[in-house]
Amino acid sequence: MATTFWPTQEHWSVQIPLHSPHYRTPSLSQDGVVLLKPANFSVPSVEWESLEYLDWKSGGDTNFAPLASADGELDCRGFWDKGQPDKGAIFTSNAAKAPTLCNYVTSVGANFGRVRIIKLEPQDHETALRSIHRDDNNRMNPENEGWVVRSWLELTDSPNSYMLLMDNDADGLPDRSTERRVPLSRGSRFVVDTQRLWHVVVHNANTPRYALITSFESSPDLENWIVNESV
Ligand SMILES: [Fe+2]
Repeated sequence: MATTFWPTQEHWSVQIPLHSPHYRTPSLSQDGVVLLKPANFSVPSVEWESLEYLDWKSGGDTNFAPLASADGELDCRGFWDKGQPDKGAIFTSNAAKAPTLCNYVTSVGANFGRVRIIKLEPQDHETALRSIHRDDNNRMNPENEGWVVRSWLELTDSPNSYMLLMDNDADGLPDRSTERRVPLSRGSRFVVDTQRLWHVVVHNANTPRYALITSFESSPDLENWIVNESV
């Protein structure tokens, strides 16, 4: 009989810190996720189709095109590999091909870290669950600075796909009673504390899904942006 995967205490995500003195945005404190209004601008498909993608597996069968990285190189490794927290990023050679997306990221007015396009191949619920995890967004991030969170902008239209989100139970494992599903229609935007919430994308489609993912450092300016842009 097939058994459904579920993380245990041995899962690497359980070791990632949940609590710290970092500044947190109040808008994310309750649920760990805020849905934003759909993008009021369109992005030409050349801004993700003409980029250079790297083979990098995270959350399924994925490839990533970095728009900003720790040192401006086309590199998907964690910023900590270069001795820095996930902020203060430098645009890569891909950025010149994606002006709408880069302008969008800088217009937020917050310190950003990795900025990448994810290309995710289709995966059903059962397959996706095997990749559910929490992110290590705040490694090397000084505790008197802002907590790093992530924002999404969906570039392709996948209305039958969703980001599966779950908060932690008392043992630090995903709590099914807190499950949320964020639909991934074109233009959908949301901010997630991905170090807190377990997450993975279920992609019910025949073609890849593309989205812009940006790490932002929490600050009062980021909070204002989230409040102004939220639904
Ligand atoms: Fe993640």
